[in-house]
Amino acid sequence: MLARQKKSSKELIPVCEPILSGREVEYVLDCLKTNWISSQGKYIGMFEEKFASYCGCKYGIATTSGTTALHLALVACGIGPGDQVIIPTYTMIATAFAVVYTGAELVLVDSEPETWNIDVSKIEEKITSKTKAIIPVHIYGHPCDMDPIMDIARRHKIRVIEDAAEAHGAEYKNRKAGGIGHINCFSFYANKIITTGEGGMVVTNDEKLARNARVLKDLAHSPAKRFLHDAVGFNYRMTNVQAAIGLAQFERIDDYVKMRRRNAHLYSERLKDIRGITIPIEKEWAKNVYWMYSILVQDEFGCSRDDLATKLRESGIETRPFFIPMHQQPVFQNKGSGAGERYPIADGLGQRGLYLPSGSGLTEEEIRFVCQTVKEIRETN
Ligand SMILES: Cc1ncc(COP(=O)(O)O)c(C=O)c1O
Repeated sequence: MLARQKKSSKELIPVCEPILSGREVEYVLDCLKTNWISSQGKYIGMFEEKFASYCGCKYGIATTSGTTALHLALVACGIGPGDQVIIPTYTMIATAFAVVYTGAELVLVDSEPETWNIDVSKIEEKITSKTKAIIPVHIYGHPCDMDPIMDIARRHKIRVIEDAAEAHGAEYKNRKAGGIGHINCFSFYANKIITTGEGGMVVTNDEKLARNARVLKDLAHSPAKRFLHDAVGFNYRMTNVQAAIGLAQFERIDDYVKMRRRNAHLYSERLKDIRGITIPIEKEWAKNVYWMYSILVQDEFGCSRDDLATKLRESGIETRPFFIPMHQQPVFQNKGSGAGERYPIADGLGQRGLYLPSGSGLTEEEIRFVCQTVKEIRETN
């Protein structure tokens, strides 16, 4: 086996670690020294404006998480009980929970086998008179095929809310993912391409939706009179300290996207010829940011995804299994209109998918070690 330089004998190559070596400390200290530690202060507006503009959007509304950003976007669109919202069954649970918080009904669609994103050809058959929105999720940093999704939404007069939690900097036909739908959401959790520790943002070009989101995120104080409320609002306010970290992270976003793409290229070069491993793709119209470098472990590999994960861990390599699709979640059993439906592509992803260490700061040597270990496990099966 290849020797790998470990920081300590017990340390694993982590699935993902943030890099905080820009101006994070300087900006955070500025917040502390000036007492601007809550949700007012200059970093909030700067971070919102810069990140929204990067996505091609006029308005950014920073939130406490990607989950609250999704909830806020849905409520800003007026979605609530009696409505239906279409999401891919293959997603992270937050997409589904955000819909459930509003009282609307989840309607699930299977994935397509190449990008693992929502199967656009199966969306329209799920639209009813109650459908109010579609949430395309850019899984692992590969953008969804947005043109047909926007076209379906236009014809049926429904909203598109992009869940771009995993796709900072990804592009669809030279437009940023998260800048195409009517109102779109990001997460800045510590494993995301840029982070604020915990945090999220809603971005949009629609002035009215932006206004709704901004008011609702701050307890729905009436714009006319503070402490007067004519809607149910939330406290989803990001702090200035988080935004200070976010701004410093944002200053290096292009580097981080390049590092993710370089790492993916190094992985794919070394894994592409291993029988039984399916590597992630990049469609000709897409820029994939490979938030997580994700593989499928097929039967020909000779051991299961879970056995591969165990063996990698024994060699000092941390991995994560793919999400468990929404239709398999106990919390959603016997709820919604799709009982008894089948989602074979999502089932396969949930069973076979694994992500390898994927942080932007991964070294070439670490990637070589991971790939060599996968190869050796394949050869000994
Ligand atoms: C697709 C997707 N949506 C939403 C979220 C929720 O973001 P957060 O963890 O910031 O609430 C995540 C988090 O990883 C995600 O992957």
